[in-house]
This record gives sequence, structure tokens and C-alpha cells, in this order.
Amino acid sequence: LRVAVIGGGTSCEHDVSLASAAAAGNALTAAGHDVVRLTIDRDGMWRDGAALPIGLAGAIDVLRDCQVAVPMLHGPGGEDGTLAALCDLADVPYVGSSLGASAVAMDKWATKLVAEAIGVPTAPGRLVTRSTADTETFTHPVVVKPVAAGSSHGVSMVRAASDLAAALDAAFAVDDRVLVEDVVVGREIDLAVFGRADGTRTVPPALEIVVPASGIFDLDSKYDGSAQFRIPAPVSDADRAALESAAVAVYDALGCAGVARVDFFLTDRGPVLNEVNTIPGFTEHSQVPRMFAAVGTSYPELLDAMVREAVA
Ligand code: DAL
Ligand code: MG
Repeated sequence: LRVAVIGGGTSCEHDVSLASAAAAGNALTAAGHDVVRLTIDRDGMWRDGAALPIGLAGAIDVLRDCQVAVPMLHGPGGEDGTLAALCDLADVPYVGSSLGASAVAMDKWATKLVAEAIGVPTAPGRLVTRSTADTETFTHPVVVKPVAAGSSHGVSMVRAASDLAAALDAAFAVDDRVLVEDVVVGREIDLAVFGRADGTRTVPPALEIVVPASGIFDLDSKYDGSAQFRIPAPVSDADRAALESAAVAVYDALGCAGVARVDFFLTDRGPVLNEVNTIPGFTEHSQVPRMFAAVGTSYPELLDAMVREAVA
């Protein structure tokens, strides 16, 4: 197939996206596809595979010349459904979730409301805007995070009242809406769901993030190579079943398509949803490819299956 792989973007996850797109493009080439690379600069300029600026109109021409698009943009301006919408308007099939599912999944507040509505627990939390921030007071440890962001940008753990204002400022620097959530004590467990149009949902073994010495799986430990994963996550049969059914339930409630990663904290009282990534990190060493590798699906095989599903 002639496949457009899109990377970069205007979000703070630009560099992560470039890494995902580069790796995915190489794997799709290895799988025998004709790969066309498109890159979005931090300022929004689109570039072709030779790094020449072609603008949005030029990019649409390139996309229309391809049989399927692989959006590898993490965060706002890509993973939030904007790229899905662009592909819809250009009438090009694409890998992964539609505009609606992507937009809701990018919004951690909306995702929380959906999950709670279907009985999947999330951390107790509240939405804070600049007009209500003054009334925030510290009573116990919380996590402060922008409603729409990724890779832990703008996220702080607040353990003392004196740190609350700075944490809110850091989050408001990324988004106009901020979530203040109770700290959940639990193991960090990620699940991948690969949904197909025929209703099949493939869930490879869960992955546990071995939390680094810093105590938080933050931006540095996500990308400096120090992160360690356990696959399959060593959990009881009951917890595994609860994690898998919660992952699929949330995936379906949001209306996700293709591969998404659903992240949980596993607590004494079962899984607590953390977030859903409709375009999760996708280098060969990222969580999702590692989970599929554990069941014998190689990285090129996984990408090949994703593009074939998108055009099926
Ligand atoms: N947002 C990053 C890319 C991830 O979830 O993997
Ligand atoms: Mg994320």
C-alpha cells in the first residue's frame, strides 16, 4: 500500500512524535509498503519527505495520493482528532480512532465522566479553571494536570500546600482547564486494545511500569531509556480479567478504533483508569509494540495489521 506516515506537530510531544513516526515509517517500509513521510513543524508548517515546506494544501495533495494515512501525532493538534478530521475531509482512510473518540480521549475530564458513567473508577478529582483557581486549597496530596496534554507535560504531584500555586501555574501554561485529582496508590498498568471493524478486540498481555527511583513515571523517565516494563504484568487472574474488561469497556464507550492504549492504576480495590491514548507512543520500544511483541506480533507485523485494518 502507499502509506502516508505523519509525525511532528505543534504539541509539546513533537519530539516523541517524530520518533514514533520515524520508527513506524521504517517498519512499514520493511513490511513492503511504499511509505511517504509528512512532517509538521512546531509552528505548524507541513513538510514533505524531502523536508521541503509544502503547506497544508500540499499535504492534502500528498495524502490524497496515498491509500492510507498513519497519524503518529501525540497530544493536541493531532491525537485530539484534528488529524482524523483532516483525513476525513481529504477522504483518505486512516489508522486509529475517529475525530469524536480522539477528542474525548484527549480530554481527561470528559474521559473521566464517560468512564465513571460505565462503572470504571477514576481518581476522585475536580475541574479547575483560571476563574476558580483562587478557591483551590490544599487538604491532601493531589496530582495537578492539564486536561489535554500528554507525556506528563505540565503535570505535578503536590504534597505540600506551598506547592499548589506553582503546580496550577505549570498546568495552566499548557491548558485552560486543569484537573486536580487525588493521588491514587497503585501499580501503573497499561493495556493495549486493537479493535477491528468486525467487532474483534485483541488485548495483548498487560504491561507494568516499574516506577523509577524518582517515584513518578515522568517526562524524563519516559524517554531517557530508564523506564522498565514488566510484560506480562504479574497480576492475579481476577485483576487481569478486571483490567482487560475495563480497558475494552472504556475503548468501546469512547468509540475508539484500531490500536489505543488504556492506562490504569491497579489498587487494592481493583483497576482505576488513568487515561486513554488514541495515538500512544509508537517506537519499537514503546509500551504498545512491546505488549504485542510479547504475543509474537513483531513491530512491522503490528503496523502492517493496523494499515490493513484501516483500509478493510
Ligand atoms: N503520550 C505518549 C506518547 C504516550 O502515551 O505514549
Ligand atoms: Mg498520554
